[in-house]
Amino acid sequence: MTTDSDLIFQPFSARNFQAKNRLFRSSISGRIDNYDGSGAQARINFERRFASGGVGTIISSHVPVHIRGRILPNYAAIDRDERVPFWRETARQVREAGRGFDHQDCKFILQLSHSGHQQDIGGIENQGQAALSSTNRREAFHGIPSQAMTPAQIREIVEQFAQGARRAREAGVDGIELHGGNGYLFSQFLSSAINDRRDDYGGSLKNRFRLMKEVIEAIRGQVGADFFLMVKFSPVEYANYALTFPWRRGEGNTLRDGIELAQMIEQAGADALHISTGSQFPHPFNPLGPFPVAEASRTYQSMIASGKFVFTKFLFFRYGLLQPLARWIWSRSLYAQGILDQHEQAIPAKVEGFLASQAQAIKAAVKIPVIVTGGFQTVQGIASVLRNGAADGVSIARSLLANPDLPRYLRQGTAPPKPCTYCNKCLLNVLEHPLACYELSRFRDYEEMMAEAMAIFTDKTGEAAR
Ligand SMILES: Cc1cc2nc3c(=O)[nH]c(=O)nc-3n(C[C@H](O)[C@H](O)[C@H](O)COP(=O)(O)O)c2cc1C
Ligand code: SF4
Repeated sequence: MTTDSDLIFQPFSARNFQAKNRLFRSSISGRIDNYDGSGAQARINFERRFASGGVGTIISSHVPVHIRGRILPNYAAIDRDERVPFWRETARQVREAGRGFDHQDCKFILQLSHSGHQQDIGGIENQGQAALSSTNRREAFHGIPSQAMTPAQIREIVEQFAQGARRAREAGVDGIELHGGNGYLFSQFLSSAINDRRDDYGGSLKNRFRLMKEVIEAIRGQVGADFFLMVKFSPVEYANYALTFPWRRGEGNTLRDGIELAQMIEQAGADALHISTGSQFPHPFNPLGPFPVAEASRTYQSMIASGKFVFTKFLFFRYGLLQPLARWIWSRSLYAQGILDQHEQAIPAKVEGFLASQAQAIKAAVKIPVIVTGGFQTVQGIASVLRNGAADGVSIARSLLANPDLPRYLRQGTAPPKPCTYCNKCLLNVLEHPLACYELSRFRDYEEMMAEAMAIFTDKTGEAAR
């Protein structure tokens, strides 16, 4: 019988894409590139760590197709042709670093994205402009001003994605992923809780899917049929889950919508699906775990100018008397599901594979491969979704951030000595600080934690290969 480890290290295969194993590094990064959207060596060093750790494929963090669609400044973009050489070099170094693990390339996929109105910090170029969206209503969580896109603006965005895909192909990356979930622009159209349009882009699911359909068709027009195109999306949105977002109109898309959507995405020409969740990022169910209020109180002030509701939230995070309420609002749905214990720590067995049953339902309804995100960290947890056919691959973010060499342990059938605790401190630091594991209990001391966080700025391996 195939061992759990063998299963994980079997090749992943799609119509036009192969990878050496079933492990995808899910999109993550910090504000480590240049303010103007050009890429920095630190990002290449960051990606090399995961490639040399043994994952089969790296999905880049979100890459804006236009500066108006950035989520935060200091993330490398693909909004013009001058960006192509940076991505070509990143893909080259990622492939090469992968060979250090098992003499086989690590694949590199670029995640094309547009924030729409979920624009945490728009940056100086976007100051004074309402963010583009499907709706004129403010973004629900932070109160970011929105402007419903006109048909002409929709056509521009379709073209921006098509050009982004063309550039990605010219850069020689192994494929692209559309950032179609988690509350960003595509979500704002797909979601029954957000999209309130009365034209051809609103109303029925078919209409709400129209923007994504037009983007997929325009991309195919630029890159042809043989370039790998995956779509990450949130089949289930939990838009008002347990009253975390009570002002939202309804729960948003349900699994029934998600299955229908998956079939429409497949029919439109996608080669694989990536299952995520939530109408918003972050959301209590993504990344699954507690909301670290102390971290939020230190970084949230950078967002105060972004949206009408941010200052009130900041006060809740900042002041001791209000903090328990802030925690309770976020965590009560997680307590209800038994995901957090009484000390507000995530229970690993409940986190790992949280979306597996949704992935399984989607996989049963489509022919293209499905990968699923959410808490994967153990050889048994990953192998079980592969073995029972819930998914063809898993994507991992935080557990790899904590242990970029996690695949080595998975190959041996063991676990790293200091696993990720799902504390979400990395997530709340990302507004201001380089992305790293900030769970002090995983390190000897603060200095060791800082040394690891800063290593991407001086990584000798990356510099040598430049
Ligand atoms: C700091 C941070 C940044 C993230 N950035 C992105 C992103 O740019 N694009 C995206 O699709 N998901 C992003 N995610 C979500 C992850 O890719 C992943 O799907 C999610 O964290 C669940 O996986 P995990 O439990 O293995 O962390 C981010 C997550 C974290 C923690
Ligand atoms: S800070 Fe570290 S331990 Fe906590 S979720 Fe992030 S990677 Fe995991």
